[in-house]
Formats: sequence, C-alpha cells, structure tokens
Amino acid sequence: MKINLPYAGIVLLIGPSNSGKSTLLRELVKKGDILTSEVISSDECRILVGDIDFIDYQRSERDEADILYDQYQHISAEAFSILDQIIQSRCRLNKLTFVDATHLYPDDRKKYIAIARANHVPIVSIIMDVDQNDLLTRDKNRENPRGIKRIKQQYQVFKREKRFIKKEGYLATYTISNSSAVEIVRSNNPV
Ligand code: CTP
Ligand code: MG
Repeated sequence: MKINLPYAGIVLLIGPSNSGKSTLLRELVKKGDILTSEVISSDECRILVGDIDFIDYQRSERDEADILYDQYQHISAEAFSILDQIIQSRCRLNKLTFVDATHLYPDDRKKYIAIARANHVPIVSIIMDVDQNDLLTRDKNRENPRGIKRIKQQYQVFKREKRFIKKEGYLATYTISNSSAVEIVRSNNPV
C-alpha cells in the first residue's frame, strides 16, 4: 500500500493495543523511510516522565487497583503534556511527526487536528484495522500483555469510531488491515 506523506505536519497512528503501530514505525525507521526523531510515542513519554510505560491495574484487587489506576492516570497526563509540546514545537519548525498512541477517542484525535491547524500544517491519519482475535493472540505472545479485558474494551471503541475518522479533517486517511507491505512516498516540497 502506497502512503503519501506531506513534507511537514502530523501523522496520527490510530488503533488498539497490538494493532502494530510501534512495529510499523520501527520497520519504517529500519528501512530508512523515516527518522527515529520523527516518531514520538506515548509509551516513551510515560517512561521519560514516570519510569514506566504501563501499569496493569486491572489485575489487582479493588483498593490497590484504584491506587494504581490513579498513578497511571497521573503519569499519562504528564506524558501527554510533554508529547503535545514536542509535537507543537516540531510543527512550528515545519517537521513531520508520527504520533504513536492509540487515539481511539474523538477528543484525542481532535487535539492533534487543532494543533495542526493552528500551525498551518497538514495532518494525515493511518488506521491500523486488525481483527479482535489477532489482537488477543498477539497480546498473549507479548512481553507485557495488556490483558483480555483491556483489548476487548479498546476494540469496541475502535469498531464504533472507525467509520467517523475519515470525515474528521485529515489531508488523507489510510487503512492498514493486514501486514501488507507499506510504501512511503514523502513530499520534498516544504510549502
Ligand atoms: N505484532 C505481530 N504482527 C504484526 C504487528 C505486531 O505479531 N503485524 C506483535 C508484535 O511483535 C508485538 C505485539 O504484536 O509483540 C504488539 O505490537 P506493537 O506494534 O507493539 O503494537 P501497538 O499497536 O504499538 O500496541 P500498543 O498500543 O500497546 O503500544
Ligand atoms: Mg506501541
């Protein structure tokens, strides 16, 4: 599949956990299509500010789960604050940035559409559309499984949301539904 990318702006990856967002971006870096510095991920930002990228609060007993959930929310809020600042700076400098986070909820996506608009750069979305069964199988084989409950919740939101994404105001929307080869074509025109 051919993916045309603007010279500068935001590329929003959209998809549940295990849909392959980070894997795709790693492959593109390895192929030399994109730079490591062009990718910013919520997991990396969580580690930068809070030392961890994931807290499995759903597996704990009730009281402990509440405490862990609060901790995770605080870390996530700080992580996204940093992430958004970096994206805004990169937009101001006319750079292209791939945002590696789930972006399942409309407000998560609207925020980046607004940042792109305010900085007069385009925003493109890449939807990672993978069957729930595949998401669950990948989760079992993953180093830090996200858990069946979380994957099923995320998949429900994704299934509901995916039909609306196209009309949200992106320059283009691409859907990757299997691991077919992706060909990146980047614009050389800085305007
Ligand atoms: N994976 C796979 N086949 C693919 C893509 C990913 O088997 N085509 C596997 C990866 O090897 C990894 C797991 O699925 O073990 C999660 O992939 P990842 O790219 O990390 O998924 P993300 O969408 O980035 O998940 P998260 O939102 O949790 O970061
Ligand atoms: Mg990831």
